[in-house]
Amino acid sequence: MSVAPERGQLSEASAPWWRDAVCYEVYVRSFADSDGDGVGDLPGVTSRLPYLHDLGVDAVWLTPFYPSPLRDAGYDVTDHRDVDRRLGTLADFDGLLAAAHRLGLRVIVDVVPNHTSSEHPWFQAALADRAGGPARARYHFRDGRGRGGARPPNNWQSRFGGPAWTRVGDGQWYLHLFDAAQPDLDWQHPDVRADFERTLRWWLDRGVDGFRIDVAHGLCKAAGLPDWRPGAADHPAWDQPEVHEIYRDWHRTLGGYAGDRMAVAEAWVRPPARMARYLRPDELQQAFNFAWLQAPWSATAFRGVIEATYDAVDPAGASPTWVLSNHDVVRTVTRYGDGAVGPARARAALLVMLMLPGSAYLYQGEELGLPQAYVAPGARRDPTWLRGGGVGRDGCRVPVPWAGGEPPYGFSPPGAAEPWLPQPPDWARLTVAAELGEPGSMLSFVRAALAARREHCRRLGSRVALGRSRPGLLVVDRAPGLTCVLNSGSRARPLPRYADPAGLLICSSNAAAVAGGRIPPNTAAWFQAAG
Ligand code: GLC
Repeated sequence: MSVAPERGQLSEASAPWWRDAVCYEVYVRSFADSDGDGVGDLPGVTSRLPYLHDLGVDAVWLTPFYPSPLRDAGYDVTDHRDVDRRLGTLADFDGLLAAAHRLGLRVIVDVVPNHTSSEHPWFQAALADRAGGPARARYHFRDGRGRGGARPPNNWQSRFGGPAWTRVGDGQWYLHLFDAAQPDLDWQHPDVRADFERTLRWWLDRGVDGFRIDVAHGLCKAAGLPDWRPGAADHPAWDQPEVHEIYRDWHRTLGGYAGDRMAVAEAWVRPPARMARYLRPDELQQAFNFAWLQAPWSATAFRGVIEATYDAVDPAGASPTWVLSNHDVVRTVTRYGDGAVGPARARAALLVMLMLPGSAYLYQGEELGLPQAYVAPGARRDPTWLRGGGVGRDGCRVPVPWAGGEPPYGFSPPGAAEPWLPQPPDWARLTVAAELGEPGSMLSFVRAALAARREHCRRLGSRVALGRSRPGLLVVDRAPGLTCVLNSGSRARPLPRYADPAGLLICSSNAAAVAGGRIPPNTAAWFQAAG
C-alpha cells in the first residue's frame, strides 16, 4: 500500500487536496511505450512521471489499463481488478503508484461501472444461459417487439450510432448504450453492486487517491425501459434519480479510508444544476464540468459558463471542475480555429481556467498545443467512427511526441513496432524536447502558468466576481487582488481601468502590448492589484 505525502504547498490549507488540484489525464495507450510494441504502458507512464512533476500538476488520472479486447480502447473491461498484460502487471501498477507518491503526485484510476466487455465472464455466462436465466439478470436482456420479437425492445439509440440493442442466438436482445461489445450492467442486481464495491476497495487498498467514474449518469435506467418520446426533456436511459443512491454508498466506502480519497463523475448532463446533484455532500466529490468544452470561442459564452457553474455548485457547497479537453473531444487548438488563432486561443482559455477557484483537468498533449491529428480511415480504431455515430475520436488519441524529428518521436524505443495510431509526419516542432528548448512554446507557457497558479492563486478566496458583460471582453476578479482579462475579439482593446499594467503577472501572448495598456486579440492576462 502506498500513501500520498502532503505536498508542501497544499499542507497549509485545510481543504482536501482535490478542491484546487490540477489533474492531468494520461491516456495510457498513447503516453509512453516502454517495451516497443507500439502501445503505451504502465512502466512507460512511470518513466515519465518526473516530466509531469516538473510540468507542475498535482494529480494524474489514468484511463483504463485493465484486460480488454479493445473494442472501445479499454472502456470494455473483462477484469476490473487486473492489468492488461500488454500494459504491464499489478506489480507495475504498484510501482507506478509508489513512484507518483514519492513525487507528490496523486493518482486517480478510471472505473467503468455502466457496462462490461462482451468477453467478460459474466456476459459469456449470460449468453450461455437461457432466456430469463439467472446469469442474464446481471444485464438487460429482453424479448423483442413485433412479430417473432424481431424489433428491439425499445427505441433507444447507442451513443455510438445505431440501435442500443443487439439480438442473440435464442432471439432475446441485450442493451448496450455504447458499442455492442459493451453490454450494460443491471445495477438493480446485488452481484453488480457487490462486485463494484470489491473493485473500489481493491484499488483503494493499493493506495489510489481516487476514481474517475465512466458514464456515471448511465447506471440506472427508468423502470420498465420505456421508449424515449422524441422531444421529451429527459431520456429514460440517463441521469435517473436512483443513480444517486449508488454514489451515496460509494461516498461511505471512500470515507472509510484515510487521505481524502475522492471520485469524479463523468456525467454529460445539462444544465449545470443537474451536474450539481452528483456533488451533494453525501455523494461524489467532483463531476466534470463539460459546459466550457462545449462552448464556442467567445468571452460572452465563457462568462455564461463560469456564472452558471458557480450558481450550480455553490448551493451544494461543492467546488467546480474546469475541463477544456479530453480523449473524447476534438482538441482545443483545432476547435478554436487551428492555424495561428487556434493555439493562441487555447493558451488564453487555459490561462482563464487556471485562475478560477476549483480544480482543473488537463489532457495529455494539451500542454504541447497538439492539434487534432488526421488519421486515415484505414487506421481508425474508434467504434464511434466504425459504427457511423460520429467523426471519430482517434485524432485526439494519437501517441504523444516526446523527441526527435520523425515518428515515433520517442514514444517507443528504437526499433519498436509502429505506434498503434499513426503520428503525423509534421510534429517534430511539437515534441516535448523541442518545446522545452523554446521559451515561446506552448509547453513553456503552460509550465509558467501552472507555476503562477501555485504562486498566486492558492491563498486566494474561493469566490470570483465577473466584470460587466462586454462583447469580446471577459474580466474575472478573484479576491484579494487577482484580475484576469480575456480578449476574445479580433482587435486589441484598452485594458479595463482596474487591470494595472504594472501588475502584469503572466500573459498568453504579447506581454509588451499588455504592459503598454492594451490587450491583444485572442489573449488573456493576469494582473495583481497594487499594494
Ligand atoms: C466515456 C469514455 C469514452 C467511452 C465511453 C464508453 O464517455 O470517456 O471514451 O467510449 O465512456 O465507456
